Amino acid sequence: MNTIELKINGRTYEAKVEKNYTLLYVLRELLDITGPKEGCGTGDCGACKVLIDGEAVNSCTTLAIKCEGKEIVTIEGIADGPNLHQIQKSFVEKGAVQCGFCTPGMVISAKALLDKNAKPTRDEIRAALQNNLCRCTGYVKIVEAIEDAAEKMGGENNE
Ligand code: FES
Ligand code: FES
Repeated sequence: MNTIELKINGRTYEAKVEKNYTLLYVLRELLDITGPKEGCGTGDCGACKVLIDGEAVNSCTTLAIKCEGKEIVTIEGIADGPNLHQIQKSFVEKGAVQCGFCTPGMVISAKALLDKNAKPTRDEIRAALQNNLCRCTGYVKIVEAIEDAAEKMGGENNE
């Protein structure tokens, strides 16, 4: 066992981990941060996505021990206290919260995208969601929600 420090949603947590523990396991099972979901566990579905230093990353295929010193943000850290982030509001308003299991990962991918590209095209939004699998109704509302969020957040670039 190694004791590591992880910076998650602006707080520092200590965890005792084996070298092979994934970040998803540590978040959910050791730290009780359960927003990231385990879908496939093999890096294919995106339900476990978190931001690591601003990049949307699958936490099920990331070793916790490699995350020391990095800024980790889970879906729990996206809202500002009781106030939902605009991306979350747009997901609700546009009916993009579908099965619910995938939503945290979708919002994380959207946040990573909009932080880098404030006014993405539809194709860019679709590309950003490539690793977020939805097997229910599809991506139309999710793409609309991200477009809506970009607009309301006042994106200017990439016309
Ligand atoms: S649970 Fe991590 S990508 Fe599916
Ligand atoms: S949003 Fe989860 S399967 Fe479609």
